[in-house]
Amino acid sequence: MVVLNEKHYIGEGLIRTCYVNPEDKNQCIKVPKPHVERNYTYKEILYYLKLHKRDRSAYDYSFYSDYKGEITTNLGVGQIFDLIRDEPTGTVSKTLEYYLGNESLIDGETLWEALLKLKAQMTFFKVFTRDLRARNLCCKLLNNNTIQIIIIDGIGHRDFFPLADYFNHFSKKKIERTFKKWHFTSIKDQKVFLLEELLKTNGQ
Ligand SMILES: Nc1ncnc2c1ncn2[C@@H]1O[C@H](COP(=O)(O)OP(=O)(O)OP(=O)(O)O)[C@@H](O)[C@H]1O
Ligand SMILES: [Mg+2]
Repeated sequence: MVVLNEKHYIGEGLIRTCYVNPEDKNQCIKVPKPHVERNYTYKEILYYLKLHKRDRSAYDYSFYSDYKGEITTNLGVGQIFDLIRDEPTGTVSKTLEYYLGNESLIDGETLWEALLKLKAQMTFFKVFTRDLRARNLCCKLLNNNTIQIIIIDGIGHRDFFPLADYFNHFSKKKIERTFKKWHFTSIKDQKVFLLEELLKTNGQ
């Protein structure tokens, strides 16, 4: 059993708490919060397992944090994923939400270019996400002074007839819809969306 404590803590969302895997610094362990139904995380895992069946040897699939299996911890059963770290420093990469709130760190044009690249990769490889939020994307700083945006949460889809898994026309349309739905139509639109969401949460 792996023992997790506050020194391994990275961050948390509504569903899970994320820790560095004490046995592998390039992995994280996500422990579902007590109120979360097993079925919720299970569906996401099924999608990862479907992706694992593909032959990924010839392609660069590094645009999402991959699922590595389950592990028992002192806090309950957790799921292991790739942990995203910045190349120059080795520190855990920050989310796109963080960089959108700290404009001076990475300019909007660089972020937008990286988002377009992610969109192209998702379309080409037919990888979908249900929850394309800025807090579910990491900005990995690279040694060549560029960045790569990587999906860390929300991968999968709920389509009963998964046409988008097989046909380019449907996958392209689906990813276009996802980017529009989550207000990734420009950096400005995304910032307005984040602000509106923040006001809604504070107004509750
Ligand atoms: N693979 C990763 N690499 C680096 N940081 C990560 C990774 N996964 C998660 N994090 C950090 O932990 C936080 C919470 O993780 P995650 O988004 O998986 O939780 P969640 O509860 O499923 O989120 P949500 O509220 O969006 O459902 C992220 O916002 C990010 O800061
Ligand atoms: Mg999240």
